[in-house]
Amino acid sequence: MSVDARVLFLLICTQMATAVDVPKLLLNNRREIPAIALGTFLGFDQNGVVKSIDKQLCNVVLNAIDLGYRHFDTASVYNTEEEIGEATQKKIAEGAVTRDELFLTTKLWNTHHERYQVLQALKESLKKLGTNYVDLYLMHWPMGLNDDYSYSDVDFMETWRGMEDAVRLGLAKTIGLSNFNKEQVKRVISEADMKPAVLQIEINPQIIQTDLVSYAQAEGLVVMGYSPFGSLVKRFGMDLPGPKMDDPVLVEIAQKYGKTTPQVVLRWMVDKKIIPIPKTINIKRLKENIEVFDFKLQENEIQQINGFDRRVRFTLPSFWQNHPYYPFEKIENPIPDPFAKKS
Ligand SMILES: NC(=O)c1ccc[n+]([C@@H]2O[C@H](COP(=O)([O-])OP(=O)(O)OC[C@H]3O[C@@H](n4cnc5c(N)ncnc54)[C@H](OP(=O)(O)O)[C@@H]3O)[C@@H](O)[C@H]2O)c1
Repeated sequence: MSVDARVLFLLICTQMATAVDVPKLLLNNRREIPAIALGTFLGFDQNGVVKSIDKQLCNVVLNAIDLGYRHFDTASVYNTEEEIGEATQKKIAEGAVTRDELFLTTKLWNTHHERYQVLQALKESLKKLGTNYVDLYLMHWPMGLNDDYSYSDVDFMETWRGMEDAVRLGLAKTIGLSNFNKEQVKRVISEADMKPAVLQIEINPQIIQTDLVSYAQAEGLVVMGYSPFGSLVKRFGMDLPGPKMDDPVLVEIAQKYGKTTPQVVLRWMVDKKIIPIPKTINIKRLKENIEVFDFKLQENEIQQINGFDRRVRFTLPSFWQNHPYYPFEKIENPIPDPFAKKS
């Protein structure tokens, strides 16, 4: 073997050795779901939802697959489905992964809550993702909206019938809910033909949602936790009250395991059987965030982190708070709708 070939071989081996083998959780339809997902919502700016520039997100997903990520969390409203599709198709074509090994989650947007609109919206997402099925389709919110973003009174059970149609047609392998409160989840469970398999909600140290998580898990739903870092990082100019990167409790636990504080927070969720959805576009942090399966927190450490709970939400769409299906507590001064701007 020439020197060049040996160097190339070593490089490939090193890359293979660094890919994390992510464990999986079992869903109530006997399918499996990887225990961590890469978040792909790029945030808001003055123009609405931020779009990926120069294929930045495509590049992140290519790197993520090399590092062992198999589960990608997107939504029609994120504007990231196309680049996820591009990256995953490239990796499948290269033989690096098969479609079966990947787990694609996307979400139905609020403007498509009529039963017939669910399939239309999902087919549009599938086209962008370049696949003929998604592994998980979530109803993004319980509230329906009209095209002009005025409130629609379509019942989320009507929407759920459309989600069930998607499974019957093989367009979604699994269906679930996002941002539903306990009463709403209960209603879907009691009235559905197909029980939801997943509940995606905000979970981080300052909003741990014990009651909702315990209820959902006891009912056999797998819980996914979005915005896992919470107050640890500033996002979109918002600095939430709660533990920061250098919090002494988190630092002490991190030092004990030779990990960083973000890794400790992700592991805290993994240990509670919650799938964290960390988002990063930074390759170093992409690697850091998946290296959380080689240690385990002790019960007292989990309790210490639970102790940060302040029930403070990062995602609080108060501009929808007068909608009859709004799932959260109301506040005094609702903010303007950043999604409506782009329409
Ligand atoms: N269902 C829903 O309604 C809903 C709502 C919100 C979010 N989500 C999903 O959840 C995902 C994550 O939520 P999120 O973006 O709000 O919160 P997040 O993942 O908790 O935080 C993302 C922020 O943390 C930074 N970051 C990532 N890893 C880091 C690390 N190891 N050290 C330091 N900083 C780090 C990122 O910056 P860099 O990119 O610069 O690293 C970014 O600013 C979204 O992308 C989306 O897929 C779903």
